Amino acid sequence: MTTKGKRTQAVHGGTQRSQWGELSEAIFLTQGFAYDSAEQAEARFIQSGPDEYIYARYGNPTVAMFEKRIALLEGAEDAFATASGMAAVNGALSSCLKAGDRVVAARALFGSCLYILETILPRFGVEVVFVDGADLAQWEEALAPGARAVFFESMANPSLEMVDIEAVATLAHAAGAVVIVDNVFSTPVFSRAIEQGADVVVYSATKHIDGQGRALGGVILGSREFIRGTVEPYLKHTGAAMSPFTAWIMLKGLETMDLRVRAQASSARAIAEAVSEHPKVTAVSYPGLPTHPQYDLAQRQLGGAGGTMVSFVIEGGKEAAFAFCNALEIVLISNNLGDAKSIATHPATTTHQRLKPEQRASLGISDGMIRLSVGIEATEDLVADILGALSAV
Ligand SMILES: Cc1ncc(COP(=O)(O)O)c(C=O)c1O
Repeated sequence: MTTKGKRTQAVHGGTQRSQWGELSEAIFLTQGFAYDSAEQAEARFIQSGPDEYIYARYGNPTVAMFEKRIALLEGAEDAFATASGMAAVNGALSSCLKAGDRVVAARALFGSCLYILETILPRFGVEVVFVDGADLAQWEEALAPGARAVFFESMANPSLEMVDIEAVATLAHAAGAVVIVDNVFSTPVFSRAIEQGADVVVYSATKHIDGQGRALGGVILGSREFIRGTVEPYLKHTGAAMSPFTAWIMLKGLETMDLRVRAQASSARAIAEAVSEHPKVTAVSYPGLPTHPQYDLAQRQLGGAGGTMVSFVIEGGKEAAFAFCNALEIVLISNNLGDAKSIATHPATTTHQRLKPEQRASLGISDGMIRLSVGIEATEDLVADILGALSAV
């Protein structure tokens, strides 16, 4: 299956059928596995083979199917599935760091990622240096003394600012650092992060992979050595395993992900173009529009796509942003993203509420900013809903 196209991999990759030949992947809702003999149990605890299981915290056949399928899609040697996206971020970082290590990270991060880097890791003696992710000179300077790891979101939340994976990876590798990329906003459909130099890619599977708001999940992708030698020992003993039922949901999600995400991205572009012309909108950020300051980078990095998210600023601050949200009829007010249902978020009062106003300002989050996660509804209905809500402002 390794030479097949992504859409074929997403439907068939990693499938392992039981003796019944079921068409849809089986859910192995079991925490444990029985052995044929005491000798077999002993042998498995010494070294279990590829399709041999011990306990669901270590691995499970349904979870393994999801790991194989997403690894094929991402072009990674291996993957480890986790209970949530944050378990994946924490697992990728904590499994490879120790006291005395240095990490260089982009400043524009999802709140919980920021909490791990700013609060948890320093508690264990890890030094974390933050840089402006779009500024290569800052990366170069921060990496000069050497680092164990680099962490960034390839497309930042909610500014949709891009980090140049190839350029940062070149600097990071010269400094001896492992490059860990949170790739949620770029999506597995448009990502070529491993090819572009990332060593480890992390997804919240809660977002585009499930894409239907049903389950929390996460996944860490990388070399077999990193996943099985570094990540697996950490996660199997600390316990953030993905449940078999969630893995089944994610397998079903992967089957339709390409279709959903391409439809979402196509509507996102239409919405970005429509709001760009609106007199009440003072700024629009969409990586697929030539007005995005890193348009060329986005084109290169995402293979000509612009993603499924649009951020824009409405004149009139919080009051205007709230009036807009409250006037929406199709788009829902929520804080998830990558869903089949379109979602509007007011980052300043929800996802980024806990930041100090000056921190929000430095990340480009103003009181009038709306982050839109574009779903799979009819494009014309979404454009009409958004323009209608803008006229109510
Ligand atoms: C960029 C990014 N990383 C990680 C996460 C965490 O994922 P989860 O909610 O599945 O733990 C999120 C969730 O919103 C996110 O936006």
